[in-house]
Amino acid sequence: MEIKSRSRRLRGSEGLRSLMSETKLSAGELVAPIFVRYGKGIVEPIASMPGINRYSADKVGDYVSALAEIGIKSVLLFGIPRHKDRLGTAAYSDEGIIPKAVSAIKDAVPSTVVMADVCLCEYTDHGHCGVIRGTGVDNDMTLPLLSKAAVAYARAGADVVAPSAMMDGQVAAIRGGLDAAGYKDTVIMGYSAKYASEFYGPFRSAAGSTPQFGNRKAYQMDPANAREAMKEIELDIKEGADIVMIKPALAYLDVISEARRRFNVPIAAYNVSGEYAMLKSAAANGWIDGDKAALEVLLSIKRAGADLIITYHAETIARQL
Ligand code: PBG
Repeated sequence: MEIKSRSRRLRGSEGLRSLMSETKLSAGELVAPIFVRYGKGIVEPIASMPGINRYSADKVGDYVSALAEIGIKSVLLFGIPRHKDRLGTAAYSDEGIIPKAVSAIKDAVPSTVVMADVCLCEYTDHGHCGVIRGTGVDNDMTLPLLSKAAVAYARAGADVVAPSAMMDGQVAAIRGGLDAAGYKDTVIMGYSAKYASEFYGPFRSAAGSTPQFGNRKAYQMDPANAREAMKEIELDIKEGADIVMIKPALAYLDVISEARRRFNVPIAAYNVSGEYAMLKSAAANGWIDGDKAALEVLLSIKRAGADLIITYHAETIARQL
């Protein structure tokens, strides 16, 4: 038998494989999520996310310096406040945990791209992402609070604000608020296609943001819908989003890939807590090699078309690269 085309020729050595590699990963495109909490001197492991800690603002600078040494230049901050209330006031206070952490990071490593998640769920006593009115979350009452939070974070020095509340018009409201306050160059990364996903479970126990009643299906997207994601992304771009995000990543690679084809803005993918925890628990059981599996997962997200990847694996991956 005569075989003319032998695909294996190009796989024969490490050198050839490296030349033929279509997708490259680098630390510069990874964003490390960081949980910052009230208090002092705290580095506290998160049970549902092995390898990830909560840091108090005085400890976060050291961590970001360690990340910078291995090439990770961007972080995405989530805050855990001392007090929660009905309106999530700790989210938009200039003395809140996020402004504190932003200044600590800018003091430690000024070149860090500091991104701040903008949402109310970690700050409300009911755990929903906006203001409760009647039995649900009121969209339009929530917008000014999100805008206020974004301005407070920009004032503290955040480079990027990332609204994740899935309120309609949130990007426009935030752009308007930032511009009016003189923060015309603050970047907005919209959580444009954010699904009502089971894969946020470990994050919610880490941040104490589980809704105390009901669920988030009236504002986050239905996992069955891909066309609707294109509509959401288009709206966010029209409202002024500089970067659009798809979240979670792994169960939605088709959405990332379709968005890549349609839109000419940077696309972020969020490899969320549940995706991380599944892999970690399989590795802890000895069923897979966690480091190798993480690399494969991130390559798949990149291959699908993401430009930047927000991932709890950032540190371990950057050490392997
Ligand atoms: C806040 C927010 C959530 C996540 C990011 N921002 C939780 C949620 O919507 O319930 C999840 C991130 C993760 O699971 O890693 N709205």
